[in-house]
Amino acid sequence: MTRVLCVSGPNLQLLGTREPEIYGTMTLAQLHAKVRARGKELGASVTCKQSNHEGELCDWIGGAGGKYDGLLLNGGALSHTSLVLFDAIKAVALPCVEVHLSNPEARDAYRHKSMIAGACVGKVVGFGPDSYVLALEGLIARLRA
Ligand code: DQA
Repeated sequence: MTRVLCVSGPNLQLLGTREPEIYGTMTLAQLHAKVRARGKELGASVTCKQSNHEGELCDWIGGAGGKYDGLLLNGGALSHTSLVLFDAIKAVALPCVEVHLSNPEARDAYRHKSMIAGACVGKVVGFGPDSYVLALEGLIARLRA
């Protein structure tokens, strides 16, 4: 069984009501259920977590070694700013896919830079909740290659 840790960062607990014209109307709980269901089809267990706190995200990523085979990370706004998350991904040395519901590069200039991309094996953006599913498929394919 492939073990995946799916981590979402600040403000993503508000999915469903947060700027639905950008992020859609699916709640985070529904999104997690969708990702876990696809994982099950692919023979992977997916553990989903969300935090608004950089240190907690750092703890989860840093503690993933030995418990998980790979990571999905939607760092929210921290994706654009956090050297802490970059270092955490590098330190744990598990393959990590950066995920965004929206396409940050098609939005405000301050969202164009990803601080974590250089620590990730790939990135899936712009497909709403399907970004998570596509990222999971890519991560699993890579882990099994
Ligand atoms: C986001 C994009 C970020 O720029 C933003 O700060 C978020 C959500 C996304 O999933 O599209 O919080 O990560």
